[in-house]
Amino acid sequence: MTALHAADRGPVPGSWSTAHFPSADVVGRRREIELLLAGLDCGAHVVLEGPPGTGKTTLLRAVAEAGGSPFVFVEGNAELTPARLVGQFDPSQVLAEGYVPATFVDGPLIEALRTGGLLYVEEVNRIPEETLNVLITVMSEAELHVPRLGRVRAADGFRLVAAMNPFDAVGTARISSAIYDRVCRIVMGYQDHEEESDIVARRCPPVPPEWRDRVVDLVRRTREHADVRVGSSVRGAIDVVRLSVSLARIRGGLATEWRIGHDAALAALSGRIGMHESSGRTAESVIDELYTAVFGEESASDDAAGDPPGEA
Ligand SMILES: Nc1ncnc2c1ncn2[C@@H]1O[C@H](COP(=O)(O)OP(=O)(O)OP(=O)(O)O)[C@@H](O)[C@H]1O
Ligand SMILES: [Mg+2]
Repeated sequence: MTALHAADRGPVPGSWSTAHFPSADVVGRRREIELLLAGLDCGAHVVLEGPPGTGKTTLLRAVAEAGGSPFVFVEGNAELTPARLVGQFDPSQVLAEGYVPATFVDGPLIEALRTGGLLYVEEVNRIPEETLNVLITVMSEAELHVPRLGRVRAADGFRLVAAMNPFDAVGTARISSAIYDRVCRIVMGYQDHEEESDIVARRCPPVPPEWRDRVVDLVRRTREHADVRVGSSVRGAIDVVRLSVSLARIRGGLATEWRIGHDAALAALSGRIGMHESSGRTAESVIDELYTAVFGEESASDDAAGDPPGEA
């Protein structure tokens, strides 16, 4: 027999499986979870690509916990120099002991390499070119040469998972040529209405489900409005609900009241949506328009509040 089927090999220690899914922490995303697990299982590095708030971090954390693999988290930004990513010699200890391994302080990359962990780099498109080159080297060679420290080989299990937001104007073009050839790419779009409503329900105090559904509808409409370049993620819906509940407590009203929801929507969403420069409109005016489309005019909706808002 020449070919060995996966099933013949039996369980591989530390291999990635769907045994822990569906997870209590992740709503839906079955296909993306399967792809991520398969990518990690076959030794690939992965890019999770999607707008802010589409659950990239949530998914990766759940998968990392289920896989029992060490998880090293790095925020990608312009200050992430190679020294911060890789680690560096501690200058005061070097004075006393010299350039010996004991005086080297591991950065997140070395930590993940040594422990065979998952290195999760958020906003990878924002990191400086030279730092990106370090990641590319590690992906290609599964090891890193650090001056005066020597070679650090990737322990079994080391994987890089990078996240990026395709709407981000910073550095996305640069990434496409450099990294895509070495990774699997999993696209994370917005989830459907039902799943987003479920996410909001899990992250907020209890409110009437039909009102929560309308908040989700409002937020989803920001993504389709002709004047809006980037709409709000489900984070916006979570904040509208939370803010309404707190505002209702402060005002001695109900979260479902028109004016309370309206004020909460403006505060929670106006900073989150990006307008087309040519539109000439403000985020507030678009939110006001959409809020009225979903909840009706103020007096009309209050009069027509035949459906009791319930405990909020
Ligand atoms: N599928 C999901 N299941 C459960 N919670 C989710 C899901 N998607 C998003 N969320 C919730 O929405 C919020 C945003 O999710 P998360 O931080 O994972 O997004 P992200 O894609 O990593 O965003 P960013 O690009 O800004 O880093 C969190 O509060 C998270 O709990
Ligand atoms: Mg994230």
